[in-house]
Amino acid sequence: MIIAIDGPAASGKGTLGKRLAKHYGYRHLDTGVIYRAVAKALIDAGADLTDEMLAVSAAYALDPEKFGDPALKTQAVGDAASVVSAIPKVREALMSFQRQFAAGPPGAVLDGRDIGTVICPDADVKIFVVADPKVRARRRTLEARARGEDADEAAVLADIIRRDERDQNRPTAPLKAAPDAHLLDNSHLDIEGGVRAAIDIVEAVRAGRQRV
Ligand code: C5P
Repeated sequence: MIIAIDGPAASGKGTLGKRLAKHYGYRHLDTGVIYRAVAKALIDAGADLTDEMLAVSAAYALDPEKFGDPALKTQAVGDAASVVSAIPKVREALMSFQRQFAAGPPGAVLDGRDIGTVICPDADVKIFVVADPKVRARRRTLEARARGEDADEAAVLADIIRRDERDQNRPTAPLKAAPDAHLLDNSHLDIEGGVRAAIDIVEAVRAGRQRV
């Protein structure tokens, strides 16, 4: 089974996808990390974020061993990721990695922005996660402070709004819900509540299938 989790709040660092994968014994890929890794490679090289050739070669040279690097989590790298992820050739370069990951046994949970629409349009379950931007800003600020980063909530909110706008309006693989996605608004849910709501969705889809 493939579970696709998309949406502006898909990778809230309570890592809904990770928890869901653990629950079902599946593998998990936070696809935001791969765009962040490409962005960081450009930053480290002192290159312009719109340097298509370098970005594409960084995408092909991805090293999954480095996906756990805490430096990928910062606000600055996330913002840069939103710029490089708008380059169609970068998205294309990262497609087969994601599809191969999704196809492997015993099943997978992928979270991102275009999993249900572009990467795995045939995913068994699609969940589109949204939350009030102000609530997301509060959460991200607390997460950043917990990592020891200096974070100003108003600036975080402005960044979230700017990044959502960019993700939703890019011509290639814009952030949008697949027509068959189930909406999950976690504005008023804590991590546990969000995980339970997601499991309920998966179970409802499974039960529906069994009845057919
Ligand atoms: O989810 P995260 O904050 O790690 O993603 C960083 C950026 O990477 C997003 O703002 C988005 O621009 C991009 N991204 C994407 N497609 C994905 C995952 C992330 O375009 N599947």
